[in-house]
Amino acid sequence: MADPSLSAASFWTQADALLRKNVTYQKRNVWTNVRLISFPLIICLLVLGLQTLMNSVDSLGEKRPKCICKCLQKNKNGQCDEEICGNEAQGEFIPSSLCAIRNPIELPPLLQLPLAVPPVTVLTTGVNQSLGEILARNMLPSSIPLNSSTGMANIADVIMGSKDPSPDPYNGRALSEPLYSIQHQCKPNSTFSVPIRAYSTVTPQGVQCVQGRFLWLNSSAEVNDELYKGYRKGNSNGKTNEILAAYDFLNSNSKVFNVNVWFNSSYQHRGETDRISRVQVPRSVNLASNAYLRYSQGPGTKILFEFVKAMPKAESTRDNDVVALLGAIFFTWVILQLFPVILTSLVYEKQQKLRIMMKMHGLGDGPYWMISYAYFFFISSLYIISLAIFGSIMGIRIFSVNDYIIQAVFYLLYINLQISVAFVVASVFSNVKTATVVAYICVFATGLLGGFLFQDLIQDESFPRVWIMAVELYPGFSLYRGIYELGQNANANGMRWKDLTDSTNGMKEVLMVMLLEWLGILFIAYCKDQVVSSGSWNCPFFLTQKSEKKDISSIRKPSFQKQDVLVPMEKHDVAQEREKVDQLLLESRTSQAVICSDLRKVYPGKDGNPDKFAVRGLSIALPRGECFGMLGPNGAGKSSFISMMIGLTKPTSGKAYVHGLDIQTQMDKIYTSMGVCPQHDLLWETLTGREHLLFYGRLKNLKGSALTEAVEESLKSVDLFNGGVPDKQAGTYSGGMKRRLSVAISLIGDPKVVYMDEPSTGLDPASRKYLWNAVKHAKQDRAIILTTHSMEEAEILCDRLGIFVDGSLQCIANAKELKTRYGGSFVFTMTTSKIHEKDVENLVRRLSPNAAQVYQLSGTQKFEIPKHEVRIADVFREVEHAKSQFDVHAWGIVDTTLEDVFINVARKAQATSLS
Ligand SMILES: *[C@@H]1O[C@H](CO)[C@@H](O)[C@H](O)[C@H]1NC(C)=O
Ligand SMILES: *[C@@H]1O[C@H](CO)[C@@H](O)[C@H](O)[C@H]1NC(C)=O
Ligand SMILES: *[C@@H]1O[C@H](CO)[C@@H](O)[C@H](O)[C@H]1NC(C)=O
Ligand SMILES: *[C@@H]1O[C@H](CO)[C@@H](O)[C@H](O)[C@H]1NC(C)=O
Repeated sequence: MADPSLSAASFWTQADALLRKNVTYQKRNVWTNVRLISFPLIICLLVLGLQTLMNSVDSLGEKRPKCICKCLQKNKNGQCDEEICGNEAQGEFIPSSLCAIRNPIELPPLLQLPLAVPPVTVLTTGVNQSLGEILARNMLPSSIPLNSSTGMANIADVIMGSKDPSPDPYNGRALSEPLYSIQHQCKPNSTFSVPIRAYSTVTPQGVQCVQGRFLWLNSSAEVNDELYKGYRKGNSNGKTNEILAAYDFLNSNSKVFNVNVWFNSSYQHRGETDRISRVQVPRSVNLASNAYLRYSQGPGTKILFEFVKAMPKAESTRDNDVVALLGAIFFTWVILQLFPVILTSLVYEKQQKLRIMMKMHGLGDGPYWMISYAYFFFISSLYIISLAIFGSIMGIRIFSVNDYIIQAVFYLLYINLQISVAFVVASVFSNVKTATVVAYICVFATGLLGGFLFQDLIQDESFPRVWIMAVELYPGFSLYRGIYELGQNANANGMRWKDLTDSTNGMKEVLMVMLLEWLGILFIAYCKDQVVSSGSWNCPFFLTQKSEKKDISSIRKPSFQKQDVLVPMEKHDVAQEREKVDQLLLESRTSQAVICSDLRKVYPGKDGNPDKFAVRGLSIALPRGECFGMLGPNGAGKSSFISMMIGLTKPTSGKAYVHGLDIQTQMDKIYTSMGVCPQHDLLWETLTGREHLLFYGRLKNLKGSALTEAVEESLKSVDLFNGGVPDKQAGTYSGGMKRRLSVAISLIGDPKVVYMDEPSTGLDPASRKYLWNAVKHAKQDRAIILTTHSMEEAEILCDRLGIFVDGSLQCIANAKELKTRYGGSFVFTMTTSKIHEKDVENLVRRLSPNAAQVYQLSGTQKFEIPKHEVRIADVFREVEHAKSQFDVHAWGIVDTTLEDVFINVARKAQATSLS
């Protein structure tokens, strides 16, 4: 280091400083943290409350509407054969499957008809074709033995089907119209009615005739083939022709009856296939059996298949395990809640530029990372632990049943992964609001996608496990998967370590994916942060090449821009400064506090606009103990210059050294001896002034009593020491107090170079005096670069001034020299009565023939008189003389102010750059 008097704070000192600051900060925000940690408690209470509520609803049997049963049909002994049970609500009867049902209803054995009727096709095959054809003919009745008084029994005889033939076996929904009667041949208009019972009333229902076609195929393989084609919606005719059923009569003959039946199991009714096949299969077999009986025993024989009936059942309760109902989505959401919290906290420090402010005062990336990570880890752990503890206490099985070590490992890995992901994601956002919104959308989308998409994939055994693992690379899904697996095991005995070897258990994959991903992301997060904060890649692997490349390009660039950038007629003093810099660079770089050599900043033009030259070839050298003031109109490039010097942006070309350290490569070292007072106060609202100074003082390696002293001294120097001000939170400070605190921060810890961007803006005159004194006092042994719009300030504080217009220095000198050089005239004002105006003019001409009149109004005139042409004494003499000649109301003569100089220079420079 160039300056041995100040050694940089070590890693641990910095970490310690940040930790102390964060602890104080979090102490102030304790309620936010308590709220966060108690969120799981609230969630658990909510779940518990819901559970209790549902349990009590079920246990309070008396309060629940009672089940009433209606008898639909009595047998001969007067006992009930069929009943439906349900509740009476508002005079209406609502069947309920929760009631006990002693006599379930009888369901007619209808066939499930294909949707594409008519006609319906039945495929047959077997060894003996002629037998097969006889059986096929026998299957359907030749006439319709319809008789309205026989009711249900008839249905079995007329071979009826429906497109929706399977009502709920307990609550007896009405059969939906239309019903179909399958016959060999349909007569026109062959619609008739049969009495069908819907609930307790018997109503006639229309029955339509449907032609049934039987098709003989040579082998069961052909049948299979045809069915498969039918399934693919393209049979041999190329038409959609769904098939009712198919029979293989095998080796049946007059003594033996063997049959295979194909039925279509793909029909669905409200997602249930089993109900369909429950009726469909026995009915199909019954058809074949009856056909065979007719063949072997004569046409009158039949097996009557009247109805199917479910078994009576006891009263059941609702499925009311709240956690099971909420599923893995719920806990995924609860845990994901942490993500927006971490993300917003990171983005907040970025948005408020607090991170860069800390960096500029010497806080390295390492300590920042470590402390931030540790803090988020601490908070996340507390959150998860409180969730697990409250969950276990309240008997939520997913927490209480599974092995705690497995849970701990899983959650531990997940929160680490989550924090590192937040670090990466945070680098994309610069606005807290956007980050919050996006984070919450992600949280909800993750839960929903997990529940409705990802879970299906997990349950689909045929979905390749490798793809599942790929999907789990998205951290939200690996969380979902883990919770899902824990939930699956919670229904049994809970997950144990030995269960992880089970191939159906996805937990080990999840743990593996999370571990690897965490390490990977951590690395990326670190690299990204490096890039963002320093503008170049300098973490292992990709990096060295890239930064070298950049150097080359930045060196080559200026060579062909030099002519047009250099102001043709560079001012004498500016040229002199440039020579001095060149000389210094050859001799010793360390002798000066700051050396800038031909520093340039070009912002590449966007959308076809020309490049913007913010700083064009700036060369200055500042010795220690000097305060250099930068004046210039807005947009002149002062802030670009300061941004380069404090490491916010990289110069396009040129070199700059701070105590011999290169700002391109050794910024980290420079930071430890630098102070910055940014244009906008960057303070923590909830920290007090003293805490701010303590923090920055520690970063500057001040310790113990030296620290306390330095803090008190600096508070005193900016007049913030009295009236308990140091211990009030910065948020309560007035604008001026904040400004003074910012200046105090920039000066604490004896920095060797201090940058102050308009330090006194918005201060009242008294505070400004204090501030000036503080700065004057501070500039003894350090270099201060100060920008300001107040000429008074510049004149009082600065040893040298540079006027900066349009990216380049117009002049550089101390205030006095500037005034003589650029403001080379006195301003002479005299007020007389109007008739003597001419006399005044003559008087001025006598003093100086080159005087110029700048203002004239009803007897008041103003002239600019070149300084070298007059002596003040002459002016007084002339005025005395004039007073004796005519009536002089008032007169005055003033030297040009710095303000005049400034306006003069700026106007001239802008005029040349325009021309
Ligand atoms: C096929 O069945 C018919 C009708 O029952 C019968 O007359 C005939 O003998 C059978 N053929 C053979 C090869 O069994
Ligand atoms: C209906 O069936 C009953 C007995 O099964 C019989 O007495 C009656 O004659 C039949 N009616 C018709 C119209 O076939
Ligand atoms: C079935 O076999 C018979 C004789 O073996 C043949 O004539 C007929 O074309 C075959 N039918 C089909 C559909 O293959
Ligand atoms: C079985 O039922 C499904 C669903 O209605 C239908 O798409 C398919 O074509 C049917 N298969 C046959 C062979 O009829």
